[in-house]
Amino acid sequence: MDHLLTALRAVAETTRLRVLALLSRGELTVGELVQILGQSQPRVSRHLKLMCEAGLLDRFQEGTMVFYRLAEAGVGEALNSALIDLVPAEDDGLVADLKALSSIRDERFSKAQGYFRENAKSWDELRSLYVAEEQVEDALLTLQGRVPQPRMLDIGTGTGRMLEVFSPFVEQAVGLDLSREMLSVARANLVQKELANCQVRLGDMYNLGVDSGSQDLIVFHQVLHFADDPVRAVEEAANALSNTGQLLIADFAPHEEEFLRADHAHRRLGFDEKEIVNMAIQSGLQCSAVKHLDGGKLRVTIWKFIKSDS
Ligand SMILES: C[S@@+](CC[C@H](N)C(=O)[O-])C[C@H]1O[C@@H](n2cnc3c(N)ncnc32)[C@H](O)[C@@H]1O
Repeated sequence: MDHLLTALRAVAETTRLRVLALLSRGELTVGELVQILGQSQPRVSRHLKLMCEAGLLDRFQEGTMVFYRLAEAGVGEALNSALIDLVPAEDDGLVADLKALSSIRDERFSKAQGYFRENAKSWDELRSLYVAEEQVEDALLTLQGRVPQPRMLDIGTGTGRMLEVFSPFVEQAVGLDLSREMLSVARANLVQKELANCQVRLGDMYNLGVDSGSQDLIVFHQVLHFADDPVRAVEEAANALSNTGQLLIADFAPHEEEFLRADHAHRRLGFDEKEIVNMAIQSGLQCSAVKHLDGGKLRVTIWKFIKSDS
C-alpha cells in the first residue's frame, strides 16, 4: 500500500506527468528534459529524483551523461502503463512537449549520422569482402527459429542492426557496446525506426552487468574478432543465458586478410569452427547448429548454442 501511495503522490503533479508522457516515448537525459520542459535544471532534477525514489523512473549513468527511463518493474511500471494511456493526446502542453522532443531527436539523429558517414567508407570496404548482409541476417533468424523470446542481449551492438533484425521476435532487447559514438548512432537508429522494445547501454563483453541466467537470446555479430579474450567473452555470455536460451555467434572463418588487423583493429583473423565450439563447451554450452555462408573473399560462419543440460 505504501509503495502505491508514494508512487501516486509522486505522479500527481503537472510537470511529473509531462515527464512520464515524454519518457514513454524513450529514454532522455536530464539536459534534454530541461530543454523540453523549459524549467531550470535544479527544478527538473528535483522532480526526477522524487520520481526515481517513488519507483516510477530508472536512472542510469553513462560517462558524463545521466539517462532516465520509465521503470521496468514493480508498482512504478504497472502505474506508468496505466497512466500513460490516460494522458489526453490532444492536450496543448503535451503536443508542445512532443514537438520539442521531436526536434531534439532530429538534431541528435543528424549528429550521429555525421559520425557514421565519416566511418562509412571503412564499413563499406569490409562489407564488400563477404556475402550480402541480408543473407547473414536471414540465416541468423532462421537459426533462431523466429520464435518470440522475452529478453535479448546484443553484445557489441555497433549501430544496433541486430536489435532491429530481432526486434519483431523479442519483448525486450538491450544492445551493449564499449563505444559511446556507436551507442549514439544506435540510439538515433532505434528512435528513427521506432523500435520501442530496444535499448542500448554502455557495456563490456567481459562484464555484461546482467543477472546470471537472465537472457533468452544472446548475439555476438561480428564482434568476437575484436576480443582479446574471446573465451572469457563466451563464458560471460553463457553465464547470462537462461536454461532455455540460445546464443548465436556470427564471425569470419579463418582468413589471411592482415589489413583487417592493421586498419580495422581486428585482433583475430577469423575463427575455426571447432575453436568456437570448444570455447562454448568449456562454458557449459552445446552446439546445436553451424552454418557457413560463402559469397566473397571471407566466409561467414554462424554458430548456435544452447545450454548443455537443457
Ligand atoms: C563490427 S562492430 C558492430 C557489429 C554489430 N554487432 C553489427 O551487427 O553491426 C563491433 C562492435 O563491437 C564493439 N566492441 C568492441 N569491443 C567491445 C567490448 N569489449 N565490449 C563491448 N563492445 C565491444 C565495438 O565498439 C563495435 O561497435
